[in-house]
Amino acid sequence: MIPINAPQIGKEEIEAVVKVLESGILTHGLGAGPMVTKFEKEFAKFVGAKHAIAVNTGTAALHLALSSANIKTGDEVILPSFTFVATAEVVVLVGAKPVFVDIDPETYNVSSEKIEKCITDQTKAVMPVHLYGLPANMQPIKEIAEKHGLIIIEDAAQAHGASYKEKPLGTFADAACWSFYASKNMTTGEGGMVTTNDDELAEKMRFMRSHGEKEKYKSIMLGHNYHMPEIQAAIGSVQLEKLPRFLAKRRENAEKLTENLKDAEKLELPKEPDGYQHSWYLYTVRLKNAEKQQRNRILEKLRQKGIDAQVYYRCPIHLMPYYSKFRKYRLPETEKAANQVFSLPVHPNVTQEQVEYISHTLLHLLE
Ligand SMILES: Cc1ncc(COP(=O)(O)O)c(C=O)c1O
Repeated sequence: MIPINAPQIGKEEIEAVVKVLESGILTHGLGAGPMVTKFEKEFAKFVGAKHAIAVNTGTAALHLALSSANIKTGDEVILPSFTFVATAEVVVLVGAKPVFVDIDPETYNVSSEKIEKCITDQTKAVMPVHLYGLPANMQPIKEIAEKHGLIIIEDAAQAHGASYKEKPLGTFADAACWSFYASKNMTTGEGGMVTTNDDELAEKMRFMRSHGEKEKYKSIMLGHNYHMPEIQAAIGSVQLEKLPRFLAKRRENAEKLTENLKDAEKLELPKEPDGYQHSWYLYTVRLKNAEKQQRNRILEKLRQKGIDAQVYYRCPIHLMPYYSKFRKYRLPETEKAANQVFSLPVHPNVTQEQVEYISHTLLHLLE
């Protein structure tokens, strides 16, 4: 089976882990040991942010960003439903209400035009997600947020290496949240990071990451234990160094797939609009005018042929049993996309021969 994603772990990561184990320093009481501090500095530089705060998952990063921005009970947060559940989960965790907005059917990202219509007196924040690694349309989102005094927290969990209008992600937001989950463009196994240019927010996040402590055993605010272990940070440093190579290989595979599939009338291929740099975390195609069953049949046959095609996301959050109570607006484009899209493997282990095999197999199944 050609997996949909695969962690790229080499001897450099293994050596880095062994070094940490031999050092005897596995963590730090306030959350930032030597490897974590090094990784934070390197990641901040990579995304051009003033601060980077490492945590133990991408979900923790999102939760930390929302809680440090004081999003709380009674507030509303605008976000897409076409994303991983964590984006909405953290909104509910801080006591606020998720307000799901429909997507732009071309990019699968939250529709900036639809955001403004959903703003109420309770709206405090907007959370654009850079789905599949393609940046959301941040300029209009920033303008709307400024007009209405809203905070912007970007979910950049899938977008390491992406950029918008030649600017790194996070530039248009109060904070950007990253994931280093095993499937991501770079990984620490599990892990996350918040980047921000806001000094006050960064300081608060550092305290909240570690039980609200400025000094040990003297909590000055409510917090969590969101420490990233030293081993993870050591892996992260190595992965970050290798990231440009991973991204180049993903891009090469994605571009080859596009070249091979461009004449398939039944497919809509992923876009990379001018001024956007895709991270190619997922290469997602749409089976045009199709019912869910037709898409699922193609998927099943691809899997029978050893291609691990997957659907992200089969069930939009507003249709999940727990989250359906937050449903407020109709989301026709979200529901349509959930029934028609599927993703093909483009990770760095996918060889040129495999790209050809994936393309030919899919074209044959579409005939
Ligand atoms: C869009 C999105 N948001 C949030 C997360 C949560 O990250 P993590 O799994 O590291 O908690 C993920 C990844 O899994 C994701 O893809």
